[in-house]
Amino acid sequence: METININLPQNGYNVFVGNGIFNQLIKMVKSHGLNKNLFFVIDKNVHSLYSTQIDLIFSNYKGKVNLIKIEASEKLKSFKTMEKIYANLLENDYSRDTLLIAIGGGIVGDICGFVAATFSRGIQSVQIPTTLLSAVDSSVGGKTGVNFGNTKNIIGAFNQPNFVLIDVNFLKSLNREELLSGLGEVIKYAYLTNIEFHNYIKNNFGKVFNKNPKILLKIINETVRFKGDVVISDEKETGNRKMLNLGHTFAHAFEVESKFKLKHGQAVIIGIASAIFLSFKIGLITKSKMDELLELIYLFKDEINVGKINYDNAISIMQRDKKNKDGKIKFVLLKDVGSILLDVEANRDDIVYALENGIGVFK
Ligand SMILES: NC(=O)c1ccc[n+]([C@@H]2O[C@H](COP(=O)([O-])OP(=O)(O)OC[C@H]3O[C@@H](n4cnc5c(N)ncnc54)[C@H](O)[C@@H]3O)[C@@H](O)[C@H]2O)c1
Repeated sequence: METININLPQNGYNVFVGNGIFNQLIKMVKSHGLNKNLFFVIDKNVHSLYSTQIDLIFSNYKGKVNLIKIEASEKLKSFKTMEKIYANLLENDYSRDTLLIAIGGGIVGDICGFVAATFSRGIQSVQIPTTLLSAVDSSVGGKTGVNFGNTKNIIGAFNQPNFVLIDVNFLKSLNREELLSGLGEVIKYAYLTNIEFHNYIKNNFGKVFNKNPKILLKIINETVRFKGDVVISDEKETGNRKMLNLGHTFAHAFEVESKFKLKHGQAVIIGIASAIFLSFKIGLITKSKMDELLELIYLFKDEINVGKINYDNAISIMQRDKKNKDGKIKFVLLKDVGSILLDVEANRDDIVYALENGIGVFK
C-alpha cells in the first residue's frame, strides 16, 4: 500500500492507495483517532456489487453505524439528494461527532463532501472512490458540491476529507464506458505533468480497459501525487490550481448541452481536443505542435459518440462558468506537455473554431 500525504498546512491528510485494502477501513479510522459514529453514504450500484465486503465491515463494527444508498446521476447531484442525507442523519440522531464515509464515484463523493462541510457546521469525512475518475481526481483536493439549474457544481464548498482510501479492487466491476470516462481525467494529467507520463499513458491506455491492477496503481499514484502537489500550492484555486481545469470549460458545456449523455470524462477528452485547437488558433502553438499534441486524443477517436452540440448554447453555458471573471470566458490552454497557460481569453470566432474542430475529431 502507498501512502500519499496531502501536506496542507491546516488540514493535511493521507491518501492510501492499494489493491484489496478496503478491509483496513476501520483500522484506519481508529489509527486516525476519528469519530466513532459512522454514517455511510454508498452508491446503490456499488452496494449491490460489493455487499459482502461492506456488510462484513458493518457486522464487525462495535459502535454506532448506519448507511444510506443513493443513486449516482447528474440530475440527482442536487439539493434533493442532500436533503435525503441530512434527513437520514437527523432521524438516526447523528450530530457533530459523526464520521461520514462516502463510497462511490465522483457524484457520491462530491455530494458527501458538501454534506460533510455543512451538516452541523461541519463533520469529519472519508472518501472511498470506486470509479477510475474519482480515484485519479475527484476524491482528492476538497472540491465538493452539487449542480443547480443547468449549471454544474455551482453550489459547493472547499472541504478536505480526513483521509482517502483508494482500493483498485473496486475498479474491476467498471464497464468500458466508465473506464473511458476515468481516462478523460487521466489524459488531462498526461498533458499537465510531463512527457514521460504522457508517453506512458499513450503506450498503456489499452491496459486500463483490461483493468490491469499494476497499471491502475501506477496511474493513480502518479496522478494523486501530482494533484496533491498542485492542491498544496493553491488549495482554493486562486492561481496554479486552475490548471486542473484543462478542457473543463468546454467539457461542462458539452455535458450540459448533451443533457448528460456524455459522461464527465468523455466530455473532458473532447474539451482537451478543443483547448488544443484553440491554442493553435490564437497562435500559442504551431500546426506541427498541435498535431503532436493531438496524437493522444486521436487514440480515443472511435470511443466517443458526441451527438449534437449546438455551438451557441455551448458558448452561453461557458459564459456561466464559475471560473469566469467580468463575464469573460477564461480558458486553460497548452503550449506543450507540462507547459500551461491560465486565464486565456479568446474571441467568439476562435471559440467556434475550437468547438468545431474539437468535436470534429470524434465525428
Ligand atoms: N470534486 C472534484 O474535484 C471533481 C473532479 C472531477 C470530476 N468531478 C465530478 O465527478 C462526477 C463524475 O464522477 P464519476 O465519473 O465517478 O461518476 P459517477 O459517480 O456517476 O459514477 C459513474 C457510474 O459508475 C457506477 N459505479 C461507481 N462505482 C462503480 C464500480 N466500482 N463498479 C461498477 N459501477 C460503479 C455508478 O453507480 C454510476 O452509475 C461529476 O459529477 C464531476 O463533476 C469532481
